[in-house]
Amino acid sequence: MSAPTHATAVATSNIALVKYWGKRDEALNLPTTGSISVTLDALTTRTTVAFDPALPADDIALDGHPAGTPRMARFLDLVRDLAGVRTYARVQSRNDFPTGAGLASSASGFAALALACDAALGLGLDAPALSALARRGSGSAARSLLGGFAEMQPGSAADGHDAYAVALAPPDALPLVMLIAVTAAGPKAVGSTEGMRRTETTSPYHPAWVESTRRDLGRMRDAIAARDLEQVGHLAETNALRMHANMLAAEPALFYWNAATVAAIQTVHALRAAGTGAWITIDAGPQVKVICAPIDAATVEKALRAGPGVEQVLSARPGPGARLVEGTA
Ligand code: DP6
Repeated sequence: MSAPTHATAVATSNIALVKYWGKRDEALNLPTTGSISVTLDALTTRTTVAFDPALPADDIALDGHPAGTPRMARFLDLVRDLAGVRTYARVQSRNDFPTGAGLASSASGFAALALACDAALGLGLDAPALSALARRGSGSAARSLLGGFAEMQPGSAADGHDAYAVALAPPDALPLVMLIAVTAAGPKAVGSTEGMRRTETTSPYHPAWVESTRRDLGRMRDAIAARDLEQVGHLAETNALRMHANMLAAEPALFYWNAATVAAIQTVHALRAAGTGAWITIDAGPQVKVICAPIDAATVEKALRAGPGVEQVLSARPGPGARLVEGTA
């Protein structure tokens, strides 16, 4: 390879409706169970990758600042191995959502990076292989390659080639709005990889979590196929709260919520008691994501904004999967 070859990809975040929390193989980043998510039309990462023979080392910038993480370095080594090249890369990645707001960017980030690397190196990976590649960066990233509703398959092969996400339904299959209440930042969260390891090794509830999640997958698939928002919301909220019960049972406990998180949950429960269909889901952080029908979004957003400690409310709908674009980050 003599001339630099580059590509730009964009990918958006996704929110799991049935959560991934546990790995069957940490080195290959293989999940214990499947998971189901909705890819959003907002929270976008745009990544340009250029493999350039003139570079003495990888050069990574996030939002314009040097930011190479060991995980990204390992990921670039992996794609070089796949391509059979030793050329270093310049990576420029930008998020269009507020950094430092505690919104996870690894899903959109590694989905965009996987797609850009595939194009820049001419790997020619098919959709399952691309999703499995993104998984090596971050488990949730495997789902952001797909648009709309996607299911991560845990696979059973030791090498992980069958652990990738597949499309369940297009973005317009089930109209919904995802409101993200960004709450006052709590103590720095334990990252997902460390959090999963701790939960698996110390929580007595983990086997029950795995078992109930496997059941939830079938029920969620059915609810999406039936376009049943109420059932999707109910299952998503129940699954998320069970994940947090499992996290709380770890030693030391993983407690991701703050006072504003609890207040936002109570706001949603009060709305529901008053007849508005709205359901919460929470990941490994203090933000509260609320699922509702588009017609109820204004009411729910207003109620969330009025809550104590809510810094901002972001709004998104189901969106397309990762795609290649022209230009640079
Ligand atoms: C709670 O995909 O961030 O958001 O594979 O270790 O990078 P790694 O974990 P990550 O975990 C996401 C956990 C979650 C639930 C989910 O998105 O399914």
